[in-house]
Formats: sequence, structure tokens, C-alpha cells
Amino acid sequence: MNTSASPTATSARAEQLMQLEDQYGAHNYHPLPVVLSRGEGPLLWDVDGKQYFDFLSAYSAVNQGHCHPRIIGALTKQAQQLTLTSRAFFNDQLGAAEKQLCELFGYDKALLMNSGAEAVETALKLARKWGYQEKGIAPNMARIIVAEHNFHGRTTGIISFSTDGDSTGGFGPYMPGYQVVPYEDLEALEEAVKEPHVCAFLVEPIQGEAGVMVPSEGYLKKAAAICQAHNVLFIADEIQTGLCRTGRMLACDYEGVDPDILILGKALSGGVMPVSAVLANDIIMLTIQPGQHGSTFGGNPLACAVMRAALDVLMDEKLADKAFALGEIFRERMRQVQAKRPELVDLVRGKGLLNAVVINPTDDGRTAWDVCVTLMEHGVLAKPTHGDIIRFAPPLVITEEQLNAACDVIEEVILAF
Ligand SMILES: Cc1ncc(COP(=O)(O)O)c(C=O)c1O
Repeated sequence: MNTSASPTATSARAEQLMQLEDQYGAHNYHPLPVVLSRGEGPLLWDVDGKQYFDFLSAYSAVNQGHCHPRIIGALTKQAQQLTLTSRAFFNDQLGAAEKQLCELFGYDKALLMNSGAEAVETALKLARKWGYQEKGIAPNMARIIVAEHNFHGRTTGIISFSTDGDSTGGFGPYMPGYQVVPYEDLEALEEAVKEPHVCAFLVEPIQGEAGVMVPSEGYLKKAAAICQAHNVLFIADEIQTGLCRTGRMLACDYEGVDPDILILGKALSGGVMPVSAVLANDIIMLTIQPGQHGSTFGGNPLACAVMRAALDVLMDEKLADKAFALGEIFRERMRQVQAKRPELVDLVRGKGLLNAVVINPTDDGRTAWDVCVTLMEHGVLAKPTHGDIIRFAPPLVITEEQLNAACDVIEEVILAF
């Protein structure tokens, strides 16, 4: 591994490929100027053969590493057998996949969807149905409490309760029935859930997109207890924090919290295809009956086979323990960098291998974006968020040696910045 590779100019081929995306693709993302064509474990290669450490993991979808052979093996085997039947019929993969999910996470039933946003929408619909049928909320009055600075996806329903101007601006009108309380504010939560029309509280155990905001210890447990005391469902969106990313199978496991509704996505397929799931017990899940919710692709045989292999990899390779141990090393290394450049590195925070470093702008106006471009030039890929935060979240299969090599690059870049 050449960790001190010198910056290279973008090749004509890479320029051409970026130009293609720019001309023919919608401008809804602002990617770093690198064109990737291959991945293996924690590593990526660009079209010119240059190697990088992936420190984004496709927003934590690639916990198991790029192109994990067991997951790709399951994909190719199932792809030659049967890919999609729709739920109009039974298939020979779905039941076993649902059983594996239910047994692993301790729920009666699972409902499979595709993207994270669809799973969140599913959870919201379940909560409302439960609210009307079980809690006795008057028709069309159900209210769901959410946290400020949340990120749960991009549908018109979900952005209706976003507090981020970029996510909401120009996309109204917004759906009613939501109330925002500050993240970590238990008093505000308690006040809100007293309202008899409230059916659920939806929360991220760590706010990933907000910049890896880790709540203080005990928050989740107390929030869940408040919900239980007021007959309000506690819904955990573990789409980004779940599946070993934070050093436990679920981030909620740190506080022994069992959400009433659990939402999973991203790494549920090891980044191979969109697979998401909602888990709940019968009293909630059976409020939805045939014809009331669905998805053409949700629970398709290919997704089920891939998901089962992805879950097996998480367990067999003990990726939660690995993320926990490597996360300690990463934060320690970054704190050493912070001690050397405190005017530039404002904060280091995170859990397991979901971490963030907050960068102060330099006097000449350079920001976290410029740090990420320099990191990219030196072989580490990470993406800034909210202007000043860099999220560092490598695939959990990264070795300690590779992690330290990447930390050397990050240190070198920040100290020279
Ligand atoms: C916590 C959380 N919920 C939901 C989503 C939406 O997932 P998707 O992009 O697959 O729709 C994300 C995506 O980043 C997320 O981080």
C-alpha cells in the first residue's frame, strides 16, 4: 500500500466520464471528482487504476466490504434461479429470509421493502394503523413525533417532517400529522407524547446525516420508557446505525432498548442491491392486511438470498466487535491529530466505525470540502456534510493495519493543511 501516493491529475477518461454525468444526469448530487470502477473489501479503484481507502462505505451500505465473495456468490446463484415473482405468489426464499430476520432481532414479523425511505414510510403507515386500531385514535388525527435535524429519506411524506431547508425547500405542500422536538430533549418528548393523538416517536439512535450526532448515554432508554408510559410506539431508524456499524448489531443495543418498530436498510444487502426491512410484533404488524401496503420488488427472491448472505457475513465475521475495537483506535488517532492542530480540528466524535471530524474553516476560506479533495488525492475517500463535518465510516472488514495506514494519510493531510 502506497499511503503517501502523490496527488495525480484527473485523466482525460475520468474527465470525460464526469462530463457525461454532468450533461445527462440530474444535478441532485455534488460528487468528489473521482470516477470509480472497481471495489474489493475496504478498497476502491478509479478508472485509471489508482487505489483508495473507502471511508464512506456508500453511506454505511457497504459494511461487509465491496463485492464480498459470499454475498456475490449468493447473488449470482440466485440470479440464475429466480429473481422476481411479485408477492402475488409465494416464493422459496422469502419465508426463510423473514425467519432469519425475526430470530436475529427478536420480533414476530418482518416486512421487506427496497430502499430505506420505503421502509420508513412503511413504519409510519404501521404506526398510524396501530394508532387507529389499537390505541383508538380518532380517524385521521394520528400524530408522529420526530427529532429536529432528522434524516429519514427523500419522499414527499418523509421530507414533510425534515428540518433541513435543502431537503424541504420548493417541495411543499407538506404532509400534516408530524411534530418536531429537539433531539435529546426528553422533557419536550414527554410533553409531546402526552397528547392522546400521538401514535409514535421516530428517531435515529445516532443522527448520521446530521453529522454523526451521538446522544448522551441513557437518552434512548429514557425516550423508549417515556413512549411506553404513554402508549406511544418507539420507532428506531437503524438504517445507517444498524448492522454492526456502531460496534453493536444495533445502536439501540448499547442501551438495551427494544424498539416497537425497527427499520433496517443499507447494509442489509451488503451494498449489493436495495433491500430494507421493518420489524415489529404481531399486534403492530397484523394491523396491515392484504391489499393495504406493498411493493413489486419488496421481498423478491434475489433480495432475500442476498440479504441472508449479508446477515451471515455480519455474524460470522464478528463485524460488530471489529467495528467497536477499530472505532476506538480511529478516534484515538484522530484525537492525536486534533491535539496537534486544534485550530483546524474542532471535534472528533462517533461510535464504532461511524465517526465524524469537525473542521474549522481556515483563514483563507478553505473548508472540509478542500480537506476531502486533498484526502482523495492522497488515496482516502470521505465526504463532507453540512460544510464543516467529515464523516469517516470505512467498511467494517478493514484490517487494523489498513485502518492505521488510512489514519496516517488523514494525519499527514490535516497536519499539512
Ligand atoms: C437514518 C436514515 N434513514 C433513512 C435513509 C434513507 O435511505 P435510502 O436512501 O435508502 O432511501 C437514510 C439514508 O441515508 C438514513 O441515513
